[in-house]
This record gives sequence, structure tokens and C-alpha cells, in this order.
Amino acid sequence: MEKNTNKSVKGFSKLSKKEKIRWIAENFFTDTEKVKRELMSFWHSNEEQQKVLDGFSENTLSNFVLPFGVAPNFVINHKTYCVPMVIEESSVVAAASSAAKFWLTRGGFQAEILGTTKIGQVHFLWKGNIQKLFDILPDLSQNLLDDTQHITANMQKRGGGVLDIQLVDMTHLEKYYYQLKVSFETCDSMGANFINSVLEQFGKTLTRYVAEHPSFLNEEKEVDVIMAILSNYTPNCLVRAKVECPIKDLGNFGEIDAPTFAQKFYTAVRIATIDTSRATTHNKGIFNGIDAVVLATANDFRAIEANGHTYAARDGQYRSLTHCSIENNIFKFWIDIPLTVGTVGGLTRLHPIAKRSLELLENPSAQELMCIMASVGLAQNFAALKSLITTGIQKGHMKMHLMNILIHMKASEEETQEAVHFFENKTISFNSVREFLHQKRKTIHSI
Ligand code: MEV
Repeated sequence: MEKNTNKSVKGFSKLSKKEKIRWIAENFFTDTEKVKRELMSFWHSNEEQQKVLDGFSENTLSNFVLPFGVAPNFVINHKTYCVPMVIEESSVVAAASSAAKFWLTRGGFQAEILGTTKIGQVHFLWKGNIQKLFDILPDLSQNLLDDTQHITANMQKRGGGVLDIQLVDMTHLEKYYYQLKVSFETCDSMGANFINSVLEQFGKTLTRYVAEHPSFLNEEKEVDVIMAILSNYTPNCLVRAKVECPIKDLGNFGEIDAPTFAQKFYTAVRIATIDTSRATTHNKGIFNGIDAVVLATANDFRAIEANGHTYAARDGQYRSLTHCSIENNIFKFWIDIPLTVGTVGGLTRLHPIAKRSLELLENPSAQELMCIMASVGLAQNFAALKSLITTGIQKGHMKMHLMNILIHMKASEEETQEAVHFFENKTISFNSVREFLHQKRKTIHSI
């Protein structure tokens, strides 16, 4: 079949879902019918549910499926959770579960909220006398609050709203550049829509106020609002999760005794604190856990990542998000991380599985969810470092890799068991597993 060499299209968004699939299949694939069938095979069997999913985004063709699993035995602040996780990488859920189990008998995780304040900014240029604006800031602030009362009323009823408005001079970095820096409390919602709606009105009110205020007569062109938007960096929406125990209670790790383990662990965290290349991988491992819970609860993983990485670089160098100390024979390991999550609003209650994830967690508040995510991140990092400083991570990874290869090669239950046994102390690769199965199947045929 002739392929369309010009793959641009007009009016694509107006096509029906089937028409979109047909256009994609016919213009980008050779096995057109198979592609159509495959994409449609992932449609939800319940039309209503599919409509909900379709509504989340644009130009939806089908659903992209990822494993939804759980890590049980997470004791956080003396409560036991079975944590939902959505992730495509093998070993992550197993590692989180094993770290949860390890700390279960050593006091569990203790987590505390260090702050919940979020930030937004109205960025604007001001060419006139800025002192005049500073002088009338209290009155301007009252105008900003009055004009957004219709947006903030509900949030105020829930105990949140606008906390503070500051005028910030940024002209040392950019000529004429100022900000209204606004602090918010958004309770159990992540609050992005709320914050952005308030800020956009603030931008309009600022322009109107300056145009109407007698101090600025004949100077109405002084303010030029560039944009109004939340900041995803929230260093004051922060949670700390911690584990600790006497060193002797860590137990032995194969040949490695508890004091040696603690010291090596401390050094591994120290390396991630001082070396950026290692810090990036170290923190990536933390986000393996956090992102999986963020996805399972339909929170915004891009916001969470951007926030965490900026925080990790807050002193000018990108560093570990976790910390370790050994004092008076006590091993302590903790994470401080900004997390902006919601348990109401957004997709949290619209996505059918996210809703179940929250139920599984017994419908936590946003603060409780922050504690859970930080603990899972800490657990993930503990599991990664424990492997790295003892056996290395490939042992665990390869075991999962072996299972994936065996599934791909349609190994039977018996073949799988024998392969797991055979490869216990051998290097696993696609070829070596294929060869193993080939030999085994050959022997059976020749019998
Ligand atoms: C792999 O996804 C994550 C690790 O590389 C994290 C780490 O090195 O700490 C195991």
C-alpha cells in the first residue's frame, strides 16, 4: 500500500476515535488492520468508563496500560498501609515491599509535615516609580483579595486561601522586572487550578488598580503584566520521613555485619551528597517509589519531579534528597522532600483506579499522602543502597529480567522453575535463556 509521505493533517481533532485510529494506522504502519485491532483491543469494555478516560486528554486513540501493584506492610506513624504503585520497571515494587518489611520490625517509618505553603507569582514590568507601588501595597492587596473573593470563598471555608502577598523587586536580575509573590494554602487539593485562577485575576486587578489609582494618573502604562502562574517549586510544602534503630538491630547482611553495613550505607549517602553524578541516580531511585504512588493516585508526577529536583539543587549543587547519620550507635536515615499532592480535585477521584488507590490508603488527607509518598521514597532508596553496598543491584534485577524473558519465550511453569534454579548463580542474558530452553526442549523431544 502507498504510504502518505506528507504526514501532516488538517482537522484531526474533529475526527471520531475510529477515524483517528484509521488515519494513524494507514499513514504510519504497514500492518494497518493489526494496528487498528491492537489499539482498539485496549479500549475499556465499559463504554462509560472509556468516556471518562477519553475526557482526560485530547486526540485519545486508546489506553496505555501499566502494571498496578501494591507494596504491603508499610508502617508509617504506627499505621499499616498497603501502598498502591503504578510502575513499568521491574524490581521497584519488590524493593519497596522488602524495605517496608525490614522496617516493620524496627519501628516503621516516622513522617512529619514541615509545611504546606504553596507559591504563585504574577510577573510584571514596572517602568515608573516603584516606591509608589510599595507605598500602596496594603490597599492593592485588599483589592486583589476582594476581586478574588468569588474564587477563594470555598477554599477559605475549608481552611485555606491566600496567605500572603509580597511585592518583590527583581530589577537586580532584569530591568523593570517585579513580582507579586503569593503564598497559598490549598488543603487537600493540589491546588494548581485554584492558584492559577487567583493569580490570573491578580494580574488583571493589578492593571486595573494602577489605571484607576490617583497616584498613577498619567502613568497608566507603567505596569505590564507578563504572566501569572503557580510555581511548582514549593520548598515550604515539605515533608520529612525517617527510619532509625540501634545499629545492632540492623542485623547481618550475608557476610556483612551491622556496623560495617551502617558505615558503608552512611558513606553511600555521603557520596550522593557530594557528587552530582551519583546524586542524580540516587534521587532517581527515590522517585522510582514516589512516582509510582503519585501515578497510582493520579497526582501530577511532572510537578513532583520538577519540585524535588529543584529542592535537591537548592544550595547551588544537585545533591541527595536523603540523609544518614550514625550517632551513639543509632542509625538514622531520612528524607526531606517538597511534595504537592491532592486527595481531592484533579483526576484523583475521576480516574477509576486512582479512586480505588485512595480507598486502599483509607482516603488519606493530602498531608497523610505526603507522609506515605516520602516514606515510600525513603524505602526505595534504602532498598537500592542496601543492594548496592552488599550484593549489587543486578542480582535482583536479573531475576525479574529472567522472568520477563521466560514469559516472552512462552516457558511453561516447569521450565520456569528449572530456569530460576539453573540461573541462580549464572549470568542471565536473552541468549543464555534461549539456549537453556532450546537444550531442554531438545532433550524432551529426543526422549
Ligand atoms: C534503578 O532504577 C535505580 C537505582 O539505580 C537507584 C540507585 O542507584 O540508587 C538502583
